[in-house]
Amino acid sequence: MDLYIDTANLDEIKQAHDMGILDGVTTNPSLIAKEGVDYTKRITEICEIVKGPVSSEVISTDYEGMLKEGREAAKIASNIVVKLPCTIDGVKACKALSDEGTKTNLTLCFQPLQALMVAKAGAFLVSPFIGRLDDISQDGMDLIGQIRQIYDNYGYPTKILAASIRHPKHMVDCALAGADVATVPFNVIKQFMSHPLTDIGLEKFLADYKKQFG
Ligand code: E4P
Repeated sequence: MDLYIDTANLDEIKQAHDMGILDGVTTNPSLIAKEGVDYTKRITEICEIVKGPVSSEVISTDYEGMLKEGREAAKIASNIVVKLPCTIDGVKACKALSDEGTKTNLTLCFQPLQALMVAKAGAFLVSPFIGRLDDISQDGMDLIGQIRQIYDNYGYPTKILAASIRHPKHMVDCALAGADVATVPFNVIKQFMSHPLTDIGLEKFLADYKKQFG
């Protein structure tokens, strides 16, 4: 399973990269705005740190605009994945960019037919947003399961990128449901290696060693 970090913060990206488990990065306009930096410059900086897929989202909502922005973004680095919304114009832009050999990530996916359509259009990644569905009392994990089954039924190579992950349980459930990738905020990634019994056990081992060996 691939693990991406969901942030535009360079410090967090460097720390996750240094852990040796980072496969890629997702950003979105909100995350880059939060950093208060230039949009393209920040994407370029991220691509210098991480060699795996880096998703850069378009701002346009019309087909022509998305195509233009997507082509520009693809020039930034060879690992850019153009992030497009799951709309009719988005699916058209996905088809055109995919045909040109540019990888795409179809974002804001909230129902299985959006995932089916973008797979038909050649998307490299589809991003179902689990947390935002949970927020409105729907089970985000059901969507992961439905997309997994549809893609397996027909052999679509589009990767399921579980997004809007809020806590470690989301990650466990995504891994069990067969998501290909999860994109996770750094504060949640850090929790993946934590368990109180690990801390207690380590403390006891070190105390016993010290008592006997000084
Ligand atoms: C994914 O690409 C998005 O950036 C992200 O996962 C959205 O998460 P949120 O719902 O916590 O904002």
